[in-house]
Amino acid sequence: MNPSHLSRPRLIPGFNKILHGGDYNPDQWLHAPEVITEDFRLMNLAGCNTFSIGIFSWTSFEREEGKFDFAWLDDIMDRMATAGHRVVLSTPSGGKPAWMAKKYPEVRRVNIAGLRDPHWRRHNHCWTSPVYREKVRIINTRLAERYARHPALSMWHVSNELGNDYMDSQCHCELCYAQWHRWLEKKHGTLDNLNRAWWTPFWSHQFTAWDEIDPRDGVSLDSMAVDWLRFRNWQIQDWYDFELQTLRPLTPHIPISTNFIGLRHNIDYHALAEKVDVVMDNQYPFYHPEKSDLLGTAVYVSLKDNIFRCFKPDRPWMLVESCPDAPQWLPPMRPKPVALHHLEMLQALGHGAEGTCYFQWRKGLGSREKLHGAVVDHTGREDGRVFRGVAALSRHYERLTPILGSTVVSEVGMIYDWEVRWSFESSEGTDSKNGAYEHVACENYRPFWETGVNVDIFSSAHALDAYKLIIVPQLWMLKPGVAQRLRAFVEAGGTLVSTAYLGICNESNLCFPGGWPGEGLMELFGVWNEENDTMPESQRINLPVTPGNPLGLTEALRARGTCAILHARGAEVIATYGEGQFAGTPAITVRRHGKGEAWYVGPRLELPSLRLFYGALSRQLALARSLEADLPPGVTAQRRSGSGQDFVFVQNFSSESHKIPLGPETGEDLLRGRAISGELALEPFGATVIAIAT
Ligand code: GLA
Ligand code: ZN
Repeated sequence: MNPSHLSRPRLIPGFNKILHGGDYNPDQWLHAPEVITEDFRLMNLAGCNTFSIGIFSWTSFEREEGKFDFAWLDDIMDRMATAGHRVVLSTPSGGKPAWMAKKYPEVRRVNIAGLRDPHWRRHNHCWTSPVYREKVRIINTRLAERYARHPALSMWHVSNELGNDYMDSQCHCELCYAQWHRWLEKKHGTLDNLNRAWWTPFWSHQFTAWDEIDPRDGVSLDSMAVDWLRFRNWQIQDWYDFELQTLRPLTPHIPISTNFIGLRHNIDYHALAEKVDVVMDNQYPFYHPEKSDLLGTAVYVSLKDNIFRCFKPDRPWMLVESCPDAPQWLPPMRPKPVALHHLEMLQALGHGAEGTCYFQWRKGLGSREKLHGAVVDHTGREDGRVFRGVAALSRHYERLTPILGSTVVSEVGMIYDWEVRWSFESSEGTDSKNGAYEHVACENYRPFWETGVNVDIFSSAHALDAYKLIIVPQLWMLKPGVAQRLRAFVEAGGTLVSTAYLGICNESNLCFPGGWPGEGLMELFGVWNEENDTMPESQRINLPVTPGNPLGLTEALRARGTCAILHARGAEVIATYGEGQFAGTPAITVRRHGKGEAWYVGPRLELPSLRLFYGALSRQLALARSLEADLPPGVTAQRRSGSGQDFVFVQNFSSESHKIPLGPETGEDLLRGRAISGELALEPFGATVIAIAT
């Protein structure tokens, strides 16, 4: 890992605090100025310091076309500056005024049936409409000109949740389709190329003109489905670029970003992350002591956090939205215990975040989100459970300021790639439905989460040379250059592990004709994956291990789900299928190549088997753990490295108290403010941070 990552800039230049605050909607309270005055008192009491403002404020700025009113925001910005708070100012394009929708119908989306939407909801403008762009340009310019030098302005928040469309309602208007056809022409050059890349003789789909290509049939042509998703992402990125251009020239000193939505399947955040100055996420896991598979959720959140952390490894990221309680849209509404809230926020910091803000600061009295969790309830009281929990977290954050600038260093890398996911999920005849791409990634990550081993997670375009171990779960699509990079990684001494569904298709989602895995990976792994057997969910198969295998495995492993059926072509067989039609054939193999090794794990393994497999591999590779201790079930640890000291975040996601033997590790328990050695006691759902001198 590049040592320059060891000291990173702050989220807000010069602001040496962990960001803590939330979406603040004073424009909903202009009729009640005493509430706004009270908000500022409560913000100080809660120890909050950062507020996102203006996200859906268009009708408060421009009630009638061309008649602007910024007086209310002037007042709020001034009060924020006086209080020493920082403002993340949003552009209002996520929700448009009714007068605009009425006067300029083209700003409203056209649905999949070809009908223009009524004026309703939010996040539903046409990405292409020149009128909408012009209206957004005008209002953004006004905002940027007015607040460019305002001391409270600290970051721009472009629109809201770009691509979070209701019912997946991408725009099907003529303007958008014309863009789609231009985009296709630019990408494929000629119709002949496109017809070949999409395999269009199938069901007589060959196209003879660009404007024949209707994107609504991703079922017949799955290559088109993947290109349509790419095009939609291009629209989102183009929109972001457009808004950025309205702000950047007027405020070159202010970081610009937009809020992401976790691992949303239809948005390639690797591409969008390259455009933003700061990575910001919205996170709403269902964390409750009685949730079934709370641990699975926690592993998923850590996986996501690792992906977000790796978008920009040389900068911290932040949760710009999360909830100190329960969001109203996530049934059942169960109040989130304060301990679990703190746990969730520390989990983000452990994975490199340096800010955790909420949706929302105060509950409105009406409309859809009136019962959504907030720091301040309808009563406006400061003695409620949630408010006190947030204030307590602010006190923790003061003790945690030494973590600012530290980073996460990993010896293990994993590939998670949206385009791979789209091509896998749009191909019929796999068990890719029901979230298998994410589930298999989580399963393969989980043994590292449980043992406190940091893992970087990135797209298939990422450099691999900094790692000892690379895991490629379901790398269905091989984009150009990926196979060569994997080969070079192994040649140079790396250990590579693949699951089933490796190297099936090229970047157009056409199957490799020479056998799987394609692009020379058959030689690298020394296996031919002739076919895949998808077992029923309840079925399990024993996988006897080869006596004397190099991992020292002695117990049979167990398979579930999809099993790659393999022929060894130069690989050593580590385990075989123990029963069924393919009994005796290779299940897990390894091939040495150059200075490294390429492992193929054909079956989807049960969790205990994954623990055995990765446990043995981790020992063989002497992977560093965040804490040199065996963590009890439900406990995880992540290490952030700073200059002169490291910070180990230890989090207990179980309802049991635990005592963790620290061995030779000694340090300072930052939250409890005392030296620690011998053992670390954690309450149910407790967490702390240990500073260790290095
Ligand atoms: C998203 C949106 C917010 C709000 C919250 C509710 O994160 O960005 O405007 O609707 O959901 O959880
Ligand atoms: Zn459109």
